[in-house]
Amino acid sequence: MQNNTFSTLFVGQNLIKLSAVDSTNNYLKNLLSNSEPLPEGTVIMADHQFAGRGQQGNVWKAEAGKSLTFSLLLRPSFLSVQQQFDLNMLVSIALNNVLLKYLPHNLSVKWPNDIYINDQKIGGILIENVVAGSTIKQSIIGIGLNVNQKKFDDELETRTTSISQILQQDVNLMVLLAEICTQIEQLYLKLRVGKSTQLKDLYVSKLYKLNKLGKYKAKGEVFEGIIEGVTKLGLLKIRAYDGKTYEFGFKEVAFV
Ligand code: BTN
Repeated sequence: MQNNTFSTLFVGQNLIKLSAVDSTNNYLKNLLSNSEPLPEGTVIMADHQFAGRGQQGNVWKAEAGKSLTFSLLLRPSFLSVQQQFDLNMLVSIALNNVLLKYLPHNLSVKWPNDIYINDQKIGGILIENVVAGSTIKQSIIGIGLNVNQKKFDDELETRTTSISQILQQDVNLMVLLAEICTQIEQLYLKLRVGKSTQLKDLYVSKLYKLNKLGKYKAKGEVFEGIIEGVTKLGLLKIRAYDGKTYEFGFKEVAFV
């Protein structure tokens, strides 16, 4: 176990730093499939990912050494498969809470778990679970946070930002990582003892476009609607112009 100075009980206590890797999620997955005895809370971080993965098969690009790209191992066997979305909510809230210290205004979570500031993405989360029977045996939580990167690819430039682009000042990556590990651990320990009741309310209160009219696309059709919240399973609830509330799973609806 590598030592570090994080003041957590287990999240980030075993921290493996890599200079370059295809994807920290893949690396962690490979370690686990080779039966490496990794403690819960292990974090794999990389200065550079040359094949970083995003949701829905997208790529996640980050300039080497400028941002946080890491994966965290949790073993939330106390969660049933139906409660998987609790992890998405927990990590989104944790990132949001940490970022609030640096960027106190206009932070939100774009469903299901993109971290937004105004209308720009600043971070993303890729959670890959292994289910055993009816519970979650293992969860690989991949987090990409744009921290000190000043320039993004042209096609992303208008839709993406970083902490330093907004603050006009760089932020220490290890300090930020320690803060994120601490936040995740605090929320995770509460969830573990069954205090998850406020998780959904808190998550919904942070939703991007909550109670605002927006344009969405589902089944090839664009429609206007208002995000009302999420269901227990994490489906997005949108009230459409016909007055009815529709529920959408991941991949079933897009923000236009
Ligand atoms: C998204 O917004 O689509 C999710 C992005 C997740 C990116 C992180 S970076 C660390 C970890 N390793 C990966 O390959 N992806 C996640």
